[in-house]
Amino acid sequence: MAEPILPGPPTVHVRAPAKINLTLRVGPARRDGFHPLATVYQAVSLYEELTATLAEPGVFELVTTGEGSETLPTDDQNLALRAARKLATDAGLIDQVGVSMMIKKSIPVAAGLAGGSADAAAALLACATLWDLELGPQALQPMAARLGSDVPFALIGGTAVGSGRGESVVPALGRGHYYWALAFADRGLSTPAVYNRYDELGPTPPVPFEVPAELMNALRSGDAEQLGRHLINDLEAPAIDLMPELKELLQVGRDLGAIGAVISGSGPTCAFLAGDERSAIDLTVGLSASGLCRSTRYVGGPVPGARLI
Ligand code: C5P
Repeated sequence: MAEPILPGPPTVHVRAPAKINLTLRVGPARRDGFHPLATVYQAVSLYEELTATLAEPGVFELVTTGEGSETLPTDDQNLALRAARKLATDAGLIDQVGVSMMIKKSIPVAAGLAGGSADAAAALLACATLWDLELGPQALQPMAARLGSDVPFALIGGTAVGSGRGESVVPALGRGHYYWALAFADRGLSTPAVYNRYDELGPTPPVPFEVPAELMNALRSGDAEQLGRHLINDLEAPAIDLMPELKELLQVGRDLGAIGAVISGSGPTCAFLAGDERSAIDLTVGLSASGLCRSTRYVGGPVPGARLI
C-alpha cells in the first residue's frame, strides 16, 4: 500500500517589487543624519520572491539565490531576517515562532531600486501570515518604517508621495501605465556614500522643497511625455560624481529616444521612460549595445506592493 503523503509545514509565497523615484528632492541632513525627502515612488514589475516556511520556535534562517545574492549577508545584518525577528519580538512571540525563508532575488543589490527594502517588506507580510498575526500591508507600516526608509513603500506599492526620510507614504492619484527601460551598472553604489557626497558637494536644497506640480499633474492625466520632462533627482550629481560614466549613459538613453531619463534613488540604476512598450524594449536593446551598462531590463509600473502569491 502506498505511504500516505504527509503535509509539510505551512508555507507562504510573497513577491515584492522594486521602486524607482520619479522625483527625489533632498534637503540638508537632519540631526539624526538622515535627509528630509520629498519624493515620488513608483513600484515597477521587477520582483523579489520570498518563500517562508514555519520552523521550530526560535529558528530564524534565510537562504538567498539569484541576482547578487552571493554578496548579501544571511545573518542578522540581512534586512529580511531583521524584519522577521522584529515582527516576532513586537508580537511578543520571539520564543514561540520560527521561520525558514528563501529569497529569489531579481533586484540588483545596492542599485537604488530598494531591493533590500522589498525583501524586508516581503518578510514582514510572509511572517505575519504564517504566524496568523492578522496584520496586512497597512497595519505593518509603522514597523516597516523602523526597518528602513523605503520599506513602507515596498508594502503599499503603486505610485506614492514620500516624505520624512522617505518612510511616510501617501498613495498618489494617478492613471496610466508607464513603460521603462532600466540599465544596471556593473557595480553598486552605497546609499550612505551617495548621501555623504551630496553633503560634501555643498547641497543647495531645492526651493520650494516639494514635488513639482507638473509631475503630479502628469501622473493625474497619465501624460507620459510630460512626466518624462519633469523627472528629477537631487542625488544625481553625487551619484555621477562617484560614477562619472552614468552621465554618458543617461545621454545615450535620451539619444535613443527615451522621453525621460533619471537615476533611481541613490543609483546607479538609470531609468528611461518610453512612450510605449515597443519603444521600451527597443531602448533596452540600444542601451545594452552601448556597452555602458552591465545589463538592461524592460519593466512597467505602477504595480502593487508586497503581496501573497
Ligand atoms: O533608511 P535606510 O536604511 O534605507 O537608509 C540607509 C542610509 O541612507 C542611511 O543610513 C543614511 O545614511 C542614508 N539616508 C539618508 N537620508 C534618507 C534616507 C537614507 O541620509 N532620507
